[in-house]
Parts: sequence; C-alpha cells; structure tokens
Amino acid sequence: MVNRSLTGRRAWVTGGLGFIGSNLALGLLRLGAEVTIVDPCVEGCGGNPANLEPHLGHCRIVGRDIADAETFASELATADLVFNLAGEISHSRSQREPMRDLELNTISQLRFLQVLARVRPGVRVVYAGTRQVYGRAHALPVNEDHPIRPTDYNGVHKRAAENYHLMLSRIGVLDAVVLRLTNTYGPRLALQLPGQGFLSAFLRRALNGERIEVFGDGSQLRDPVHVDDVTDAFIRAALAESPPDRVFNVGGPEALTLLEIARLASLAAGSAGSITCREFPAEHLAFDIGSYQADITRIRAQLGWAPTIEFAVGIRATLNWFEKKLAA
Ligand SMILES: NC(=O)c1ccc[n+]([C@@H]2O[C@H](COP(=O)([O-])OP(=O)(O)OC[C@H]3O[C@@H](n4cnc5c(N)ncnc54)[C@H](O)[C@@H]3O)[C@@H](O)[C@H]2O)c1
Repeated sequence: MVNRSLTGRRAWVTGGLGFIGSNLALGLLRLGAEVTIVDPCVEGCGGNPANLEPHLGHCRIVGRDIADAETFASELATADLVFNLAGEISHSRSQREPMRDLELNTISQLRFLQVLARVRPGVRVVYAGTRQVYGRAHALPVNEDHPIRPTDYNGVHKRAAENYHLMLSRIGVLDAVVLRLTNTYGPRLALQLPGQGFLSAFLRRALNGERIEVFGDGSQLRDPVHVDDVTDAFIRAALAESPPDRVFNVGGPEALTLLEIARLASLAAGSAGSITCREFPAEHLAFDIGSYQADITRIRAQLGWAPTIEFAVGIRATLNWFEKKLAA
C-alpha cells in the first residue's frame, strides 16, 4: 500500500458509500485525508452508510446525485483530489434499462464534470473505468491499446464517461486518470444484490453452503483483484505527478478459470456446497466477454502498482470478514 501521508488533503469520493468507494474512503481516512462522500444510495446499487462503520462520523456525506453538483459547487471548489466512483455496475440491468444506465453512468458524469472543471479547474480526478469497454478480447493479456468494442450498454456508457474525463484533460480543464478495473472482490461487496457479477454470486452461495452455479463450461479466465489492491491503485493514481499516460488497466495477480475461482471460494468457506456448470442464460450470453486477463505492464511501470493479494488468500480473508459480520 502506498505510504504517503494525506494529512489535511481534502479528498472527495463519489459513490463512496458503495463497495469500492467505501473501502477507498476508509483507506484515505487512514492516511489522514479529510473525506467528503457524494452518494445518495441509488436504488439497486451497493451503497450503504453501514459500509463506513465505525468511521461514518469521520466523513462528510453529501447525499446527492453527482448530477446535482451545482447544489454543492462551492464546497466542491475546495477539493484537492477527486475519486470518481459513482456508477451502476450491473451489465444485465443496463441491457434491460439502458436509459437508466445512461442517466447514472453518463449524463450524471457529464453534469458533474462540467461543474468540477468550472469550480476546480485542473484538479486531479481518478475515474473508475471498467475492462468491460474492451468487449471480447482478441488475445490475452489485454493491454490499453486493445480495440474498444463493448458488448453491452454499460460498457458503452462507461466508455463515454471515460472519454469526457480524457477530453477535458486534453483541453486542460481537468487532470484525469482513468483506471479500467477488472472484477473486484473484498469486504463490503454487496452480496445481497442481484446483477452484481459472478464474484458476488459465488461468495453469497459459498457463505450459505449452497451449490455454486457457473455459466458455460467454466473454462473462461478472469483475473480477480482484491479491493485493498484497487484502493492502492486509486491513491497512486491520485498522487502520480504527470504520468505519461492517463489510462491504466488494473488487474489481479493471476488468471484463473471460473471453475477454479468457484472451487477456491467454496474451499475458503469450508462449504459443503457443490459446483455445477450450466448453460448460459440467453440474456447473459449476449454480453459475455469470454476470457479476460489485464496486461498491467503500464501501471506497473508508471505508477509503481502491482496487485499483492493472491486470490486464494484474499478470498479467505473476505469470507472471514463476512462470517464475522454475520455472527455479530
Ligand atoms: N466492482 C467491480 O468489479 C467493478 C469493475 C469495474 C468497474 N467498476 C466501477 O467502480 C465503481 C464502483 O463500483 P462498486 O462495485 O463499488 O459499485 P457499488 O454499486 O457498490 O457502488 C457504486 C456507488 O455509486 C453510487 N452512485 C451511482 N450512481 C450515482 C450518481 N449518479 N451519483 C452519486 N452516486 C451514485 C451508488 O449509490 C453506489 O453507492 C463504479 O463506477 C463501477 O462501474 C467496478
């Protein structure tokens, strides 16, 4: 983890009551930052004030949509660093309700960035992009120059928001860095919500001792990354001075098949539940990206970041965290 003090730095975290945002906010507090969170707990997303306990009282919470940035513009003008994680992650819901996804992932972002660029020109903003923008990989590992051809609305809308950040940086009114995150797991993942991806479903079932269902033959590769490593990447991206590039992949330490991931989750939970492969539901198959592994050469070279937590270790720690929480 990056070891620089942020004492007195005013850090804003949009989407900071959600899974990754709350872990990041807690990491920023540990480094001494003054943390302000913008998050209205959008229905269907992972936002929950309890994610910040017992430190909820140490953050300032603005319970607004980022689209309403005009209403908190004067406070936003004092931000030293902005971590922009507000967004909807469900691919399946984006296919069913593309206009909702457009509002949350693109229009809100445009409104927010226009205000931010006006009241705090030149501020460093780190945006939570997604590997979904690449679509089906033509070869692995995927580097940042891979063609952009998303397979769902979520990927298209996240790509547009990424482009706003990059365009506004190109014309000199923001100083943005985009992190294209792979599948992230760890404490505070919203296990209770549907449509949050396979890791959330696997963890929920492993914790309940239920059978884990894998779509397809289970041979698809993924490179899950622990949220503590992701937090470290965000903070490094915020503090990096003039990196040559602005877009970075954030991937996990190893590529595993979905079957291996399911087995490790089940093993870590000490669960008696079995694992079965089933045919892809049609709505999922349409936007499935096949196998994915990020090439992290660029972020390693320019930000000095690399994932440190092996999946077998991280998943055990994550399940322990949830077990303690359930027992409390
Ligand atoms: N979790 C992953 O594996 C993953 C992978 C790639 C990218 N990302 C990106 O990381 C970010 C955080 O994801 P997460 O997993 O923590 O999701 P999450 O649902 O747990 O958190 C997202 C938070 O954003 C808030 N939000 C949504 N729209 C908002 C808006 N318009 N204004 C203010 N707040 C808003 C929600 O209320 C929620 O608290 C998202 O932008 C997502 O696209 C996540």
